[in-house]
Amino acid sequence: MIARPTVAWLGAGRMGVVMVERLLDAGFEVGVWNRTPERADPLVERGAARLATPADARSYDLAYSMVLDDGALERLHDPADGLFSGGRGGLATWVDGSTVSPAAARRAAADASAAGVGFVAAPVSGNPGVVKAGRAIFAASGTAEHLERAEPVLAALGRATHVVGEGVEADVVKLATNGLLAITMQALAELVVLGEKAGVPRDRLLAFINDSAVGSPFSSYKTPALVDLDLTPTFTVEGQRKDLRLALGLGAELEVPLPVVSTTEVAFSRTISSGIGAGLDLAAVVLTAAKDAGLVLEPRG
Ligand SMILES: NC(=O)c1ccc[n+]([C@@H]2O[C@H](COP(=O)([O-])OP(=O)(O)OC[C@H]3O[C@@H](n4cnc5c(N)ncnc54)[C@H](OP(=O)(O)O)[C@@H]3O)[C@@H](O)[C@H]2O)c1
Repeated sequence: MIARPTVAWLGAGRMGVVMVERLLDAGFEVGVWNRTPERADPLVERGAARLATPADARSYDLAYSMVLDDGALERLHDPADGLFSGGRGGLATWVDGSTVSPAAARRAAADASAAGVGFVAAPVSGNPGVVKAGRAIFAASGTAEHLERAEPVLAALGRATHVVGEGVEADVVKLATNGLLAITMQALAELVVLGEKAGVPRDRLLAFINDSAVGSPFSSYKTPALVDLDLTPTFTVEGQRKDLRLALGLGAELEVPLPVVSTTEVAFSRTISSGIGAGLDLAAVVLTAAKDAGLVLEPRG
């Protein structure tokens, strides 16, 4: 067993940066590749090596990807300069933490397998702040051998790993969890607008909800955004819609009607297409809910 694998990190976005910082703090040897190289600069300054292409991962024990979507994952195993373009070298395991469709993960796993590399799907629950605090959790699936190789890295990145299968089941678990998250966000948005229009300030309503049985860590995390209207993204409304669409795609493929997920996807799309919430945090759905109610929300500090 490799106690502490060397790690080639692919994707230094909002999540990737804070995750690599945790690995560097824990003493891992890390190389970083990002499509836009400058975004990896702070990590290189902190001691990570810079990789020129994903193919450079072949000189590490384990590749770990944290990229946006199916297209980005596809790019990582591009035959031209992707992970396996020059043979696998010393690379044994590819862990993907991105939220992607099970179909895209299966394609990645098939290419990995053809190159003699094991694939672990390990999507993460927790925004960058949660990761920084060491509170993120992982759904993980893959063979026992490669889950074991990934374990020291996952243990350094978060507080718990839930093994849910031997294939790409973890991506299904993540889509279901994020579907529930989006539905909750939309419900909170609608109901705080209802409260506000009926004369109950958002901070009072949310303080009660958060103390009740239907309050949750998520409703508490999102309370400042809903009250102060600081919509600096932890996860964008576009990113969240991407996950809703992945869940709907899986539902269509398997003939599973998802009426509440469908309605939520429309609410997120309206927030993007109207321009009201484009590029903002997913809590920006509250702006659409308020507009529909003819209400102008003021930040309440
Ligand atoms: N933020 C959260 O709260 C959160 C929580 C849990 C899971 N996730 C998931 O984690 C993943 C990353 O999220 P994030 O918030 O870090 O997103 P982000 O800040 O937008 O970063 C996206 C990353 O993907 C890369 N990328 C995008 N398209 C690409 C392409 N075609 N080829 C190669 N690389 C590409 C970006 O590279 P560039 O820098 O070149 O654009 C960047 O490194 C997503 O799957 C997301 O659903 C996010």
